[in-house]
Amino acid sequence: MRDREVNFPASFLWGTSTSAYQIEGGGTNTDWWRFERAPDTVAVETCGDACDSWHRYEEDLDLLVRFGLNSFRLSIEWARIEPEHGVISSEALDHYRAVLEACHARAILPVVTLHHFTLPLWVADAGGFENPEIVGWLAHYAMVVGEEFGELIGIACTINEPNIVAAMGYLIGMFPPQVADSDRFVAVNQMMRQAHVAMREALRAGPGTYPIGMPLSMQEYEALPGGEERLHSMRAEMEDKYLQSSQEDDYIGVQCYTKMVVGPDGVVFDPPGEKTEMGYLFWPQCVEYTVRRAAALSSLPIFVTENGIGTDDDDQRIRYLKGALQGLHNVLEEGIDVRGYFQWSLLDNFEWSFGYRPKFGIVGVDRTTFARTPKPSAQWYAEATSDFPRSVIDA
Ligand code: GCO
Repeated sequence: MRDREVNFPASFLWGTSTSAYQIEGGGTNTDWWRFERAPDTVAVETCGDACDSWHRYEEDLDLLVRFGLNSFRLSIEWARIEPEHGVISSEALDHYRAVLEACHARAILPVVTLHHFTLPLWVADAGGFENPEIVGWLAHYAMVVGEEFGELIGIACTINEPNIVAAMGYLIGMFPPQVADSDRFVAVNQMMRQAHVAMREALRAGPGTYPIGMPLSMQEYEALPGGEERLHSMRAEMEDKYLQSSQEDDYIGVQCYTKMVVGPDGVVFDPPGEKTEMGYLFWPQCVEYTVRRAAALSSLPIFVTENGIGTDDDDQRIRYLKGALQGLHNVLEEGIDVRGYFQWSLLDNFEWSFGYRPKFGIVGVDRTTFARTPKPSAQWYAEATSDFPRSVIDA
């Protein structure tokens, strides 16, 4: 393996990503809480108390300080801020203000996601992303968040992986509302882009000056003979339409994990090669590929707002991170404007329909005591991101 000196800009953001529902615990007023308990659910278990980060967020932030990281991606739970249509919870506002102030007290830049997969029950019961009224409801929610926290937000993410919410919820049926209908999938993607614009403009109208964008799930793709057409149509719906409609955004959030192989009959499941706990190909090269593609199609600055690996083998995680950061440096050396990298995730947490089995964290969490135990990959990530010019990593 070729060693080489790699350097990152001094202003580069190094962080980890999380989401409210997956780490806070107690997200009872959401569509996911109900979905996990439905008799026909595909969810393997319920989220319950997650990592108890609603109460332990300062412990989590202290871990970031210990690892020498300068930013943290978190989400604000709409269902807590607006438990009923038009009713704003001052208790929830106070809580998230305390979280954001705790970030700043530790010189950690908060990257705030407003919607990360979950909906308030009142929105889900009104049709969710199939009801055009959601655009106005999300704009109002963004206005409230912007008014309350605009001076504390470092970077804003409007909707996390809108393409995944659409695909998993309406095409594959693994997320709420557990539907498999390609027309509804396309319609929800269109609604997502409208909602994003409305949220972005609502945030811009409020206090504070911070970049606003939308974290997009992206993949490296490989077509087998005869799979080219399927690949291009799949990627157009999942990526290109979003990237090509992002001109008014301040950045693109790239969220990638693997490479997808597409044959004449569609996605090839279990292609040959090393795998991860999610059944994905072990493919850290996806960072270089997706960042390069996002930059080419959007001409916007890039943040890698999620990248990581679900694995019980922490050595495999370290190998993955090495490959990912090497690819990141390759695109930086080419002059692509990448401004930060957020490893998914700080903590082993609730992996949606797959439950707690997949371990994406650089910190383990005891499911009974919620005790946090940093893994060797946390130490590796801390060292790899600590000094500029950077220490050498294997190619
Ligand atoms: C996503 C979500 C995260 C996941 C992570 C691992 O990209 O699906 O943003 O909530 O937990 O990506 O799959």
